[in-house]
Amino acid sequence: MNVLGIETSCDETSIAIIRDGLLTANLISSQDFHSKFGGVVPELSSRAHLQIIIPLLKNALVKSNLKLNEIDLICATAGPGLIGALLVGLTFAKGLAYSLSKPFIAVNHIEGHVFSGFLMADKPEFPMLTLVVSGGHTILLLVESFTQVKKLGSTVDDAAGEAFDKVSKLLGFGYPGGPQIQKAASKGKATALTFPVAELKDPYNFSFSGLKTAVLRHIQNNYKNVDAIPEQEKNDIALSFQIAVIKALTIKLEKALKEFDVNSVSVVGGVAANHELRISVEKVVKKYNKNLVIPDLEYCGDNAAMIAFRGQKLFEAGIVHDLSYTPFPSLNPQHFS
Ligand code: KG4
Ligand code: ZN
Repeated sequence: MNVLGIETSCDETSIAIIRDGLLTANLISSQDFHSKFGGVVPELSSRAHLQIIIPLLKNALVKSNLKLNEIDLICATAGPGLIGALLVGLTFAKGLAYSLSKPFIAVNHIEGHVFSGFLMADKPEFPMLTLVVSGGHTILLLVESFTQVKKLGSTVDDAAGEAFDKVSKLLGFGYPGGPQIQKAASKGKATALTFPVAELKDPYNFSFSGLKTAVLRHIQNNYKNVDAIPEQEKNDIALSFQIAVIKALTIKLEKALKEFDVNSVSVVGGVAANHELRISVEKVVKKYNKNLVIPDLEYCGDNAAMIAFRGQKLFEAGIVHDLSYTPFPSLNPQHFS
């Protein structure tokens, strides 16, 4: 079976093909021009998806040595994400499915991330604890199978990636914030500053808005504006902030490791690309002697390989979606519960 995956939920256009179980293409075109606006401009994102999606599909077919009519299943992200951006990929996928008379699957982007560890050679084993850390979501899940996913907790305000992006902006680094904070943090002094880690009543929930405010207050109390912050101080703030985020994430992960007897742990989503987070999670998981799967960097950020994989699993479970399926901008709070 040859599966086509299409991802256009935010600022990455991605097309992937899984040919008879083997990932033969995962092409990702990132819209770097948003950085000059300090964040993603939805309308520009939709237009850029439109421009690149057909050439990307052609390249993916060439790379996979397939013709369009040899595709057996068409999967696309339906949400959550920017509605205009989602519309481009989803409508394109539905058009292809209709014209080729092939089945269509609408994939939940977060579910795509949840199972992205299965794209690695060393695959997770159920039951697994999965920490989703992306630009829009921070969710801790107990995943029993491809169809049984239980939410343990999630952020009550900002997502971890969102906090990286906001603090990056406060420091004048721009968008996307994660890689720039990581770079600055690598030159910071760990002892210079301490930022708070939120304590919440619910054992598996997260909160990052207080941390972001603490960084803002520190800057406002000490400097006239962002240009007045010395470079070393920016590096120290970046490091202290990153340490606080990692602490907040690993404390909850360790709590869950103590409570649930799982076979694997997986950390997924854009923030899982963070080098220090990967090292810290590895240390925690090692203590409990569990198998840890963090996808390679290519599969942490948004990619269509995870959409094709998730779509194929749904199809194998007997699911096919109608072409009237419409995109959705946010995750239903009941999802995963
Ligand atoms: O999963 P993703 O690509 O898109 C969403 O579904 O949201 O995640 C994007 C997020 C952004 O907030 C970005 O700043 C963050 O992932 N990110 C990182 C790193 N690389 C990307 N955060 C921390 N460290 C990184 N190295
Ligand atoms: Zn994502």
